[in-house]
Amino acid sequence: MRTLREDPLAVRKARGAFFTPPAIADFLGRWAIRTPDARVLDPTCGEAVFLLAAAEQLQALGAESSAVAAQLSGVDLHQPSLDASAALLHELGAGANFVCSDFFELPTPAQIGDRVGWQDAVIGNPPFVRYQEHRGDARKRSVAAALAQGVRLSGLASSWAATLVHASAFLKPTGRLAMVLPAELLTVGYAEPIRRWLRKRFAVVNLVMFERLQFHDADENVVLLVAHGTGPCDSFCLFHVDDADDLAGIHPLDPIGANPAAEGKWSDLALPLDVRQLFKVVAERMTRLDGYGTPELGTVTGANDYFALSEVTRKKYDLAEKHLKRISPPGTRHLKGLGFSRAQWEELRLRGERVWLLHPEKTAQSKGLATYLEAGMKRGVPEAYKCTVRDPWWRPPVVPVPDLFFTYMSHRYPRLITNGAKTTLVNSMHGVRLKDDAPAEAREALPLLALNSATMLGAEVMGRSYGGGILKMEPREAASLPVPGPGALVKAWRALSKQSLNLDATLRRGEWWGVVAEVDRVLLRGALGLNNDEVGAIRDAATLLRVRRTRKTEPHGSVDEA
Ligand SMILES: C[S@@+](CC[C@H](N)C(=O)[O-])C[C@H]1O[C@@H](n2cnc3c(N)ncnc32)[C@H](O)[C@@H]1O
Repeated sequence: MRTLREDPLAVRKARGAFFTPPAIADFLGRWAIRTPDARVLDPTCGEAVFLLAAAEQLQALGAESSAVAAQLSGVDLHQPSLDASAALLHELGAGANFVCSDFFELPTPAQIGDRVGWQDAVIGNPPFVRYQEHRGDARKRSVAAALAQGVRLSGLASSWAATLVHASAFLKPTGRLAMVLPAELLTVGYAEPIRRWLRKRFAVVNLVMFERLQFHDADENVVLLVAHGTGPCDSFCLFHVDDADDLAGIHPLDPIGANPAAEGKWSDLALPLDVRQLFKVVAERMTRLDGYGTPELGTVTGANDYFALSEVTRKKYDLAEKHLKRISPPGTRHLKGLGFSRAQWEELRLRGERVWLLHPEKTAQSKGLATYLEAGMKRGVPEAYKCTVRDPWWRPPVVPVPDLFFTYMSHRYPRLITNGAKTTLVNSMHGVRLKDDAPAEAREALPLLALNSATMLGAEVMGRSYGGGILKMEPREAASLPVPGPGALVKAWRALSKQSLNLDATLRRGEWWGVVAEVDRVLLRGALGLNNDEVGAIRDAATLLRVRRTRKTEPHGSVDEA
């Protein structure tokens, strides 16, 4: 009877069909179903693992087998799954009201045409189809269903998000929702409206996190969500377990309280309690990056390939330096070390990199400049959005020269880089201008001292996981990055500055872990007073979140290789 599970993986992936281990379905069924007369809906029931668990739980609570069929409803758009479900429930002496439909077309009990009625429990494992495959009319229906519940989802949302929101519309005010969701609920940008909605919608939110992957055929970390009542709520209850076998040992009165951030991601909730507490203590001993200077966006030109030009192009059009600004070329690949010097800039200029930014004087025109602007018009540059909203289109606003660059799109971790070349920058990086009261050492010291495990963990917690598992930090998130405060910075720099050339060379060779180990020793242990175990726990947690973020992804976009 379980043959549908043997459908080719690609066929199942297209409709997000990954089957839940019974231990998880049983746990969620037990948690959500509290009375023998409870009405239960699985909105995307597949082969009924949740309906079977529900039937067993209802019977355990004293429901008559003959009555159970009238209490259970299962929806799926795949008729063979429903046929298999009916047969499996029949084996248990039960049945259900099966509806073959796109769940997003199923009217809620508040709408005309309702087919399932108000529910005491909604349980299930929504399909997880990424936005690239979740397209067309199916997407439109799902977005409209979520919007009807007040949740505006972006075009990047995977299908589980709308399923979760639409499913909640079937609950009685006291009803319980129990679902398996991808762990990216906690971290990705597109789930932000869902995170906000969860706090508003439910009175109680429980989350269960797993240390190990729970689905053999889906390379996806999952969390279990059990929410009930009518919100809002300020704090969540968290449970951490190793795997599904541990679920039976969970007691509903054993949670760890957590206050999820009102905005931004909730990655810290994925950390075990002791590490979360340790990280809080360490972060309090550090300071935020904006204690030294506020991260700012680089220049947005609208067309970097036109406005950022090489020495060859400069010479070809005979563009005088007064019409140009020196920049760190777009991208970050040329910035492997702790600093960017004038000599490196010269080397890049000679190599033909785009080291100039077009920024003509408004009045003094030249023949070469006029020819270059004409070439831009022929290429349609003035039609680029950013060019249409400024006057004149050919003069991008240049941001002030920062003391430090900040790489905000990273595979591993964001980096600070001393701007020894004193160039300005385009928007492949952020810039940080140091405050007047920052210690004199900060400009040289911060890039090295930010390479410590606590700052790296901070980046995982504060930043957001972007497409392809990339860690992205907007200026506001970069501002909150924990870095050593002035006292610790000066102390650690005294001990490390003599080695900084060596460490810079190590970093340029790509051996970043050696640098981190040395900075951890001097800064976290020496200057901040953590012991070996504490440093180890912070380092392991940073690694855990990084590995989870990057596990199944390949890079795209303009990204720092670090
Ligand atoms: C992740 S599987 C879960 C199946 C089952 N609940 C379990 O956990 O084993 C998702 C199920 O959703 C169904 N499905 C996908 N999109 C759907 C939609 N828009 N409406 C109803 N069912 C859908 C698929 O056919 C698949 O059976």
